[in-house]
Order: sequence, then C-alpha cells, then structure tokens
Amino acid sequence: MFDFKNKKALVTGGLRGIGRAVVLMLAEGGADIAVIDIGGEELEKNLRDELSKFDVQLIVKRADVSNSREVKTAIEEIIQEFNGQLDILINNAGITRDNLLLRMSEDEWDKVIAVNLKGVFNCTQACLKTMIRQKNGVIVNVASIVGLKGNAGQTNYSASKAGVIGFTKSLAKEVGSRGIRVNAVAPGFIETEMTRSLPNEIREKVLPLIPLGRFGQAEEVASVIVWLASDFSSYLTGEVISIDGGLML
Ligand code: NAI
Repeated sequence: MFDFKNKKALVTGGLRGIGRAVVLMLAEGGADIAVIDIGGEELEKNLRDELSKFDVQLIVKRADVSNSREVKTAIEEIIQEFNGQLDILINNAGITRDNLLLRMSEDEWDKVIAVNLKGVFNCTQACLKTMIRQKNGVIVNVASIVGLKGNAGQTNYSASKAGVIGFTKSLAKEVGSRGIRVNAVAPGFIETEMTRSLPNEIREKVLPLIPLGRFGQAEEVASVIVWLASDFSSYLTGEVISIDGGLML
C-alpha cells in the first residue's frame, strides 16, 4: 500500500503487539527495519520468519529504552549498519504498572515514566543528529487516549503519555524547519498482550463506551502510524491522532 523503498526505519518495542504490526507494514512497503526491544529470542525468531517473505534488512538490538547508555550504543550500531541513514523513528515501546495513587509504589511510578517518557527522549535524541544532517526524517510517538483524558488507576501511565504528547508538540516546533515531522497517535483499547491480562469486569465497563462497539486490533493502529510515517501525511506535524473506535467522543 505504501512505498518505503530505500527507507530505513527504527521501531522500538517492535517484537510484538502494535510495534510488530508496524514493522510488518513498513517492511511490506520495502523499508529496511531495525528493532530495539527487551523481548525474548522466540519473538525475534517469529518476526524474522514472518519478514523473510519481504526482501528487506532486519536488525534487532536488545536494549532497554529507559537506559540512555544502552540506547546510544544500539542506535549508533543501527545507523552504522544502515550506512549512516535513518528516515523513520517509531517510539512505541511502553509498559503499564497500574495502581491507585494511594497504593502506588515509587518504583511503579519511576519505571513507567522511565520507559514511556524518558525512553522517547533517549531514542529520539540518539536519532535526531542523523535526521538533521539528512534534512529529512519522520518521528511517530505512541501515546494513549489516557494521556488526553486520564484514567483512574493509571496516574503514572497517563502522566507519561501526556508527557509524550507535550514532547511531540515541542519537538515538532524545534525541528520542522529542518524537514523533520513529529506526530503522535493516541490508541484507545487495543487487543494486545498489554490489555489481555485486564480483568473481564474492566472490559465489560469499557466496551459500551466505544461507539464502534469493539476493541481495536494492532493492525488498525499500525496503519495510522505507517500513514504518518509516509509522504501521504507530508503537511502534518505536531498532531495527535486518536485511534479508539470513538471512545474519546
Ligand atoms: P505490548 O506489551 O504487547 O508490546 C510492547 C513491546 O515493547 C514488547 O515487545 C516489549 O518487549 C517492548 N518493551 C517493553 N518495555 C521495553 C523497554 N524498556 N525497552 C525496550 N522495549 C520494551 O504492548 P502494546 O499494546 O503493543 O503497546 C505498544 C504501545 O502502545 C505502548 O507504548 C503502549 O503504551 C501503547 N498503547 C497501547 C494500548 C493498548 O490498548 N494495547 C492503548 C494505548 C497505547
């Protein structure tokens, strides 16, 4: 559907869920792909098998996005393996550690902010010099509707995702004149490992609030992310697109 021939893309958290769906769509369009993830060998093997039908390069680096040293090393190696080129960054890696604020531990707070918000800072900063040198680049950050409207039991997660939205808008202003676009998506309730463990009573509460009457699939988020990464959205920057079956209405 999209043409990403001769493009080099980095997707964080690309071994499963939404990130994996993004990797597959970018590869289908012909992009060479790098993934930064902490996931296991089995997930990598699975992705490699799936990608073997496309004639593209796949680099997988095990690194924790919250660790600036690991990210710097991984991204330096990736850019080197891509011969100094990097066109697309998808900041997708994210976690939840849900709890009511009164019960939330400092570790639950710190971990979510470190992965979801500092991770975006770490990865973006490590890629930006290359994009500025190229005078071209696209960054898509995966936020959440919870970062726009809040959610009881997710003060840490919604603060991190609201932070990602502020980051997106500020960076869009900083680097627009350098030919770099920065946008965010705000998914609603999407069926992935992240939401699979949620109790049935939460699902039953949320479902009637969704006008489309169902939860979303990873591919339905990926297709918007990939559109944002493509030239079809060439006049869009600093934007946040909700993908939520109407839950924000
Ligand atoms: P998932 O849990 O299925 O996949 C997350 C991926 O990120 C995994 O491959 C995991 O190994 C990787 N990851 C986690 N921590 C990492 C770290 N410190 N460093 C590197 N990689 C790490 O989650 P899902 O649902 O695919 O979520 C992707 C993004 O979408 C996240 O940012 C999440 O917050 C966001 N999102 C998800 C929603 C949902 O309903 N599933 C709704 C709104 C936003």
